Amino acid sequence: MAKTSVKFACTECGQSTARWLGKCPGCGSFGTLVEETPPASAAGSGSGAKKPLRLDEVEVEAATRIPSGLAELDRVLGGGIVPASLVLVGGEPGVGKSTLLLMALASISRDRRALLVTGEESAAQVKLRAERLGGGADVEILAETSLEAICATLETERPEVCVIDSVQTLWSSEVGSAPGSVGQVREAAARLLRVAKESGVAMLLVGHVTKDGAVAGPRVLEHLVDCVLQFEGERYHAHRVLRASKNRFGSTNELGVFEMTGAGLVGVPNPSELFGRTVDGEAGSAVACALEGTRPLLLEVQALVSPTDLAMPRRVATGVDPKRLAMIVAVLARHARVPLGQADVFVNVAGGVRIDEPGADLAVALAIASAARGVPVQPATAAFGELGLTGRLRPAAQARRRLEECAKLGVRTVLVPTESPKAKGVRVVEADTLRRALGAALAEAAREAA
Ligand code: TYD
Ligand code: MG
Repeated sequence: MAKTSVKFACTECGQSTARWLGKCPGCGSFGTLVEETPPASAAGSGSGAKKPLRLDEVEVEAATRIPSGLAELDRVLGGGIVPASLVLVGGEPGVGKSTLLLMALASISRDRRALLVTGEESAAQVKLRAERLGGGADVEILAETSLEAICATLETERPEVCVIDSVQTLWSSEVGSAPGSVGQVREAAARLLRVAKESGVAMLLVGHVTKDGAVAGPRVLEHLVDCVLQFEGERYHAHRVLRASKNRFGSTNELGVFEMTGAGLVGVPNPSELFGRTVDGEAGSAVACALEGTRPLLLEVQALVSPTDLAMPRRVATGVDPKRLAMIVAVLARHARVPLGQADVFVNVAGGVRIDEPGADLAVALAIASAARGVPVQPATAAFGELGLTGRLRPAAQARRRLEECAKLGVRTVLVPTESPKAKGVRVVEADTLRRALGAALAEAAREAA
């Protein structure tokens, strides 16, 4: 075996190779392999035989969670920050990661020691921002990027909560590559993880995100940390959505909604009210009752269908999976007599929210059919149900909770797949196929089907 003192690692997926390649063998990206010098590892410790425990012998400390002061953040985390945990908060630049975590620290610092390690902004900048946000006098701050210095500080100071903004600025002299490289980021996360577990510091790491939404470079980070939170939203829109894509202490896909105001981020406790409204009589819009984690959420889905001469008509989805959209368009054409072969189809979900859940299929199909026919969906109507390839509607999970949310928000009629339960306060219209559902929801379509 050749000695490999130099390795190459992919900045996209973290795959490492012994020599430089133009294309990463892990993820297939081009030109992403960069040189990485592995740190001199001190192997050999703890290699003796150990005695395993039975689960009932394991002592569990009553994990009291630390409330962050932001109800939406606490919900996404599963009920607050877990002591000695490592949370990665990803998001595009400018989305509000620093603002969110500074607000959380400001609240936490009233009862506990809270430290902000900033590698991006100066201490003075942070102070100005905190003053603008109205608080945070007790937050401790350290403007530092040296990993060794930060770990040493954490071990002596032992704050209860520490925010590192951002993990890409950290730099260890033991790793030969530049800050932000895979080697540096991986080393930083691994060492901070050790400090978090040994010193009991709950650590929140800010991580930048690339254009396609992955936490930049270090996919490797995602399995090291306990939680991965994604902070999403359009820079020029006021609303921000926080979701967990991984959570060792709670449910994933729990959703938190914030509004960016002049005074920082304000939680939106009832997003359905904000995103689930349509204008009566407007064609091309439908309300989906989607489920995000345990939380039902009403979302307006808008569609535009416009004639095109393109051989490959456009299918543009914002907030909906493009593959799902292609499937819905095909089912509409094949099973519901909504021909879309000569039309561009655009679909957009209100508020910059992304729906990953198949229960939203029916509302997406309704919005497209409504746009294609120029017929509005009946007023005060919401819909949920998964669409099968045969045009049949499948029951969606947690139908009762969804119906309750609809009733709470003044929806009068809910279009559901057959065999869904009933609920008080809303009229439930059952349909077994997409065609029947369209017939019930679009006035003109009803006449056609008759
Ligand atoms: P920031 O938290 O710095 O984003 P990130 O750390 O994710 O890069 O702030 C994002 C934007 O939020 C910034 O462009 C200005 C805006 N903003 C407000 O609108 N109101 C506020 O009170 C603050 C602090 C920021
Ligand atoms: Mg920032």
